[in-house]
Amino acid sequence: MGQRIDRQPDLGALSAAAAEMFVHLAQEAIATRGRFTVALAGGSTPRHTYKLLSTSAYGNRIDWSKVHIFWGDERCVSPDHEDSNYKAAREALLAHVQIDEGQIHRMKGELPPEDGAKHYGEMLQAFFSDGPPRFDLHLLGMGDDGHTASLFPHTEALKETKHRVVATGADHHSHPRLTMTAWAINTSAVIVIMVSGEGKAQMLHDVLHGPKKPDELPVQLIAPTQGDVVWLVDDAAASKLPESD
Ligand code: 6PG
Repeated sequence: MGQRIDRQPDLGALSAAAAEMFVHLAQEAIATRGRFTVALAGGSTPRHTYKLLSTSAYGNRIDWSKVHIFWGDERCVSPDHEDSNYKAAREALLAHVQIDEGQIHRMKGELPPEDGAKHYGEMLQAFFSDGPPRFDLHLLGMGDDGHTASLFPHTEALKETKHRVVATGADHHSHPRLTMTAWAINTSAVIVIMVSGEGKAQMLHDVLHGPKKPDELPVQLIAPTQGDVVWLVDDAAASKLPESD
């Protein structure tokens, strides 16, 4: 229901703020519901956050035995491929904390894309058996073209309302992708969209203050039905936003 902008001086401060939010939400979810479900973002922006979470300053404050890790999107590659979002998170975080394999729910990028999407959708349905999938936290990034997860401009995935996970991106990208759909992402309790760097400043302005055109700017689809969105941005990315934001 709510949306706020959390402006940080630079990527380091943005990453520390993201790690602190992660710890706080994990502690709260585990204390109140006995578990913490989080969907990770791919790309480069969140990597420093993942590394911070593997350090004692942050990681030691989380009961990892109660944490379940998911992904909002994945490249259709093997889990040991250099472009795998799973591999990136494992190397930065998951290999360094006490979390069982059964709590790591990766998208199977090695499957044929349609099969990978079907598998993940069915896994989500089975995991969240007591109701619709709802992550305590969903981390997202934003591309300089306004995409988020692997929801790219002018694609069928933007209109999907039947399946929570779809295959997409085969035509424009080096790899086909699996992605959660906007409506699946929007069931999350807290969505944090991390945006860093001057190169995204104009896009961030257009997304937040320009006309609503989600087919062109898919990140505009992110509006949780019963949750909050935090735009966690650094000064460089926020340089074209009004001071009042
Ligand atoms: C991916 C991400 C993608 C990413 C944005 C921003 O698989 O690449 O899910 O949506 O978040 O492209 O990427 P950077 O953080 O590298 O700028």
